[in-house]
Amino acid sequence: MALPWIEKYRPKSFAEVVDQEEAKYTLASWICTRYKAPREFCARWGKKRDKEISEAKAVLLAGPPGVGKTTIVHALAKEINYELIELNASDVRTAERIKQVVGRGLRESSLFGYGGKLVLFDEVDGLHVKEDLGGLEAIIEIIETAKVPVVMTANNPYDPKFRPLRDLSLVVNLKKLSEDEVVEVLKRVCTGEGAKCEEEALRSIARSSLGDLRAAINDLQMYLSGGRRVLTVDDIKRVGERNPQLSMFEILDRVYKARWFDEARAVSFNPSFDWEQYFVWALESIPVVYKELELTSVAYDRLSKADMFIGRIKRTQEWELLPYALELALGGVSQVKNKPRLPPFIKYGFPQRLLLLARTKEVRRRRETLIEYLAQNLHVSQSLVRAELMYVLSALARHNPHVIERLSKSLGINSLDIKNLL
Ligand SMILES: Nc1ncnc2c1ncn2[C@@H]1O[C@H](COP(=O)(O)OP(=O)(O)OP(=O)(O)O)[C@@H](O)[C@H]1O
Ligand SMILES: [Mg+2]
Repeated sequence: MALPWIEKYRPKSFAEVVDQEEAKYTLASWICTRYKAPREFCARWGKKRDKEISEAKAVLLAGPPGVGKTTIVHALAKEINYELIELNASDVRTAERIKQVVGRGLRESSLFGYGGKLVLFDEVDGLHVKEDLGGLEAIIEIIETAKVPVVMTANNPYDPKFRPLRDLSLVVNLKKLSEDEVVEVLKRVCTGEGAKCEEEALRSIARSSLGDLRAAINDLQMYLSGGRRVLTVDDIKRVGERNPQLSMFEILDRVYKARWFDEARAVSFNPSFDWEQYFVWALESIPVVYKELELTSVAYDRLSKADMFIGRIKRTQEWELLPYALELALGGVSQVKNKPRLPPFIKYGFPQRLLLLARTKEVRRRRETLIEYLAQNLHVSQSLVRAELMYVLSALARHNPHVIERLSKSLGINSLDIKNLL
């Protein structure tokens, strides 16, 4: 498989890391005052003199996902030619394991003529389940005793249980990247891939990434997958942006007014598209839109066929049938023969059925939580999770009960509920 672009384009040096100047200067100054580092590097980056910096036993880089925390530490190790001993908190959960890995790393002498060693505890806030007790203490012990620099990263280090870690460390905040900065990086990637990308298209990806460069680069790679070499705003519109929350009124309007089958079908790529809700609304809006009996009947016929697929999917979990259901329910309802010109404003009524659906609100809320969680942790958009990953997960879960158990643990939703959500 080709290298993921987030790796291919991961900055190799401090200079290539976009923005985050504060973090780069502080981290470099800390290394340069307390440890051995090349003179040119210190002259360029390590000039901050500050008691807080020189006295800190460790550095904790804090900030939202995908802004360069891990990247900066990797780049630092390269810049100063240190060997990186890296522990990802989600791999290493026990004190024993932490001591073992770091201990071994520090004992063994480095090959390749490294100038020193640097310990990175990546994502320390991943240490949140019960079994981690002891993990935090082990990290603290290493900070206090090891003679080598220890850097940590976290999304949210302000949890009270990290207090002891924060007291020992210099906390450096990284900021969300601005839209312009994300666009700059995306442009570089496009150039690197030999692709022609419209500025507006990149801007749209940047906007929906909310400053998460990893998500932005992943999205770009998805858009340019299959060897595509051109990216236009229309491509993006077709798939749906990451965040615009379309109301059900807008969704219905797009479906009924779509000029082509695909245009109606594309509505399902929108993250706010919820097919269960759509069915309810379609059911009551069809006769409002297609006043003629014959057209109403055709549209209902297609919706009912879609519903048969949905019923089958629910019974048998054959999610691969969902595309058929959606094509019938969206394209099928939208493209009826001899369709009249629709008025610019259609008054869609609020479906009575929704009152009944209130019962299932909690289920849908949980499903959303699950989707959000997956999107955030896999760094992809919610629409991708909704359109593809949920089905993969449900298939995996059917064969391997551990999948459900692990999700249940991370989400705090009981496993029976997760089973029903998938
Ligand atoms: N400031 C930046 N300059 C250039 N590229 C960046 C920057 N930040 C992130 N990236 C790109 O995004 C990818 C992910 O960044 P990184 O792994 O450093 O994120 P992170 O802040 O550690 O996120 P997380 O909290 O999820 O671990 C990198 O491989 C790189 O391609
Ligand atoms: Mg990281």
